Amino acid sequence: MNNIRLGNLDDFETCKEIADNFDESTPTIKIFQKLCQNESLYILEKSGIIAWFISYQILWNNSMFLQFLRVSPKFQRQWVGKALMQHMEQVAVSQKVDELISTILVDNIASEWLHIQQGFIKSGSMNFTEAQEIVMIKELWNTK
Ligand SMILES: CC(C)(COP(=O)(O)OP(=O)(O)OC[C@H]1O[C@@H](n2cnc3c(N)ncnc32)[C@H](O)[C@@H]1OP(=O)(O)O)[C@@H](O)C(=O)NCCC(=O)NCCS
Repeated sequence: MNNIRLGNLDDFETCKEIADNFDESTPTIKIFQKLCQNESLYILEKSGIIAWFISYQILWNNSMFLQFLRVSPKFQRQWVGKALMQHMEQVAVSQKVDELISTILVDNIASEWLHIQQGFIKSGSMNFTEAQEIVMIKELWNTK
């Protein structure tokens, strides 16, 4: 049974354990605290165990930028990612933003397919750091 709720500071250690499984960047406790205060971090629990977390920031008043999308390895391929992506789309629609934006590492096939399945389109690339990233965008104007 999936339960999606807002995160709080007590979730930090579990989320850090999940994030430590991956090479992807991890929120520091300060960032985690700020995300919880802003009510922009969501947790998905499966039978009471934290399976996933994700956060967002609103950019330029009209775009929701998704960050820190992490599913615990033991819950992957069980449509946890899909469930929370759909939840974030509902949050975005309720906030009347025009688009969802996400960046993924160029060789992250799992994340790329998850985004494509959810209707995101490859819209550019970035290489500010050594890692090459793809910018994924989903337009929401047709949901207004
Ligand atoms: C990417 C990630 C979030 C996917 O989460 P998940 O819960 O396993 O994904 P889901 O089970 O909801 O899968 C939804 C769709 O994504 C795609 N997908 C997920 N994992 C995949 C994989 N390993 N290979 C190929 N496609 C995959 C499939 O299209 C899948 O649909 P299907 O099961 O009907 O074929 C998860 O693997 C993860 O946390 N990875 C490590 C951290 C990371 O890469 N985060 C993303 C940074 S942008």
